[in-house]
Amino acid sequence: MQTRVLTGITTTGTPHLGNYVGAMRPAIEASRRADVDAFFFMADYHALIKSGDADRIERSRLEIAASWLAAGLDPRRVTFYRQSDIPEIPELTWFLTCVTAKGMLNRAHAYKAAVDRNAETGEDADAGISAGLYMYPVLMAADILAFDAHQVPVGRDQIQHIEMARDIGQRFNHLHGHRFFVLPEALIEEQVATLPGLDGRKMSKSYDNTIPLFAGGGKALREAILRIVTDSRLPGEPKDPDSSAVFTIFRAFASESETAAFRQALLDGLGWGEAKQVLYERIDADVAPMRERYQALMADPGAIEAVLREGALKARAIATPKLAALRAALGLRASAARQAAAPAKAGGKSSDRKPRLASFRDADGQFRFRLFSAAGEELLLSIGFADPKAAGAVQAQLKVAAAAGAAELRPEALVIHLLLDGRTVAASAAYPDASSRDAALPSLRAALDALAAQDLPAGA
Ligand code: TRP
Repeated sequence: MQTRVLTGITTTGTPHLGNYVGAMRPAIEASRRADVDAFFFMADYHALIKSGDADRIERSRLEIAASWLAAGLDPRRVTFYRQSDIPEIPELTWFLTCVTAKGMLNRAHAYKAAVDRNAETGEDADAGISAGLYMYPVLMAADILAFDAHQVPVGRDQIQHIEMARDIGQRFNHLHGHRFFVLPEALIEEQVATLPGLDGRKMSKSYDNTIPLFAGGGKALREAILRIVTDSRLPGEPKDPDSSAVFTIFRAFASESETAAFRQALLDGLGWGEAKQVLYERIDADVAPMRERYQALMADPGAIEAVLREGALKARAIATPKLAALRAALGLRASAARQAAAPAKAGGKSSDRKPRLASFRDADGQFRFRLFSAAGEELLLSIGFADPKAAGAVQAQLKVAAAAGAAELRPEALVIHLLLDGRTVAASAAYPDASSRDAALPSLRAALDALAAQDLPAGA
C-alpha cells in the first residue's frame, strides 16, 4: 500500500541551502520510493497572507518550482502543482470553516504571536491582523484533507497546523456521519539537519542569514560562504569543528569519510579562509549540475507553468470527485440529483429499513449510484456512467452477483472497492486507517447480502 505524502511550499522567497538540505532533498528522495505517493505544491494562496507584492509572488513561484525540478523532482512520478490552480481548495476551505471552532483558531501560534506583539506595543489586540492570517490553519487543512494525505512532512513550527487539520477533519467526519477525510499525521524527519546560517543561528529568511541555493550563481554562493561567522583563531591554531557553522554545513553535503577528513584538518589548524574554500567546492560539486538545469528552466517560464498545469490536472482528478461527494453530503447538490439519491428516511418502522441502492446524476452529468446501509449511511459510491441505463444495468448485475456471492469487496489503500467481473464499479470513502477499513468489511458484506435478497430493479 502506498502512503500519500503531501507538503506545500509558501511562495514568498527564494530557496536557500537550508531549504534544500532540510526540506527539498529529503522530500525528493522520499518521492522516489515505490511505497510513496508524493504531492508537492506551491502554496501561493498562503503567500497572499504574508505578502501583497504580486511580482514577488510570481517570481518566487517560478524560482521555487524551478528549484524543485532542478533538484531532481520528477513531475511524472509526483503530483506537482500550484494551489491556486485547484478551485476545490478554497471551496473546501469554506466547508471546513463552517465546522472549525473559532476558539481553536484563537490558539494558533502565529495568530497568538501577532496578538502578543500588539499587547507589547499597547495596540488593540487585533490591530493589523488580517482574517487571512487567522484562517491560515483552515486553508492548510483544506490543502491536506482534499487529497486524503496520510503524512505531511513539515518543520516543527508547523506541527500545530497538522494537529488542527486532524481536528477539523475529524469533526467534519463526525458531524456528517461518514469518514470523508483521512486524518493526517505530521512527519518530522529527526535525522535531517537544520542548517546553521551565516551567524550560526538556524538558517532562515527571517534571520537574514541565508546562503542562496541557486540565485546569483556560484559567485553568490561563494560570497555568502565567505561571510560565515567564525571565531578568531588563526591559521595553524586548532579549530573546534563542532562549534563551527562551516563544519556543520560541510557535513550536510559530504560523505562520512570526507567529513572525518575535514574534521581532522580543522583540528590540525586549517585556516578559516581555506576551510571556506573547501566548503564552497564541496557544495558546488553537488549544486553546479542542478544550477545549470535551474538556469535553463528559469529562462523558459512557460515550461515551468506547463509542468504545474499538468500537475493541477492530476490533482483535480482527485479533488473534483471528492468535492462532489462533499457537496452532496452537505445538501448542496443539484435538486434533481438530491431527489434521486435521498435515502427513504420518512415513513416505515426502522425495522423495515433495508440497505438500498439509489441512482443520481452528478454535477458533471454522469450517472452514478450509491449503496446505503439500512441506517441510511452511505457505504459505496459507484463510478460514473454515461447514461442511466448503463448505471441501472450495473445495479442489476450487482444484485445478481451478490446473490451468487460473486460481488468482490477488495481493500485497496484506505478504500474498499467493489468489483464485478474483476472491474471496480464502486468504492467506499477513505477510512482513516487500515484497521477501521477492515472493520467496515463485514457490514459492507452484510449490506450486499441483504441487497441480494431484494427484487431486481424494474426493467433489469
Ligand atoms: N504552512 C506551510 C509552511 O509555511 C506551507 C503549507 C501550506 C503547507 N499548506 C501546506 C505545508 C500543507 C504542508 C501541507 O511551511
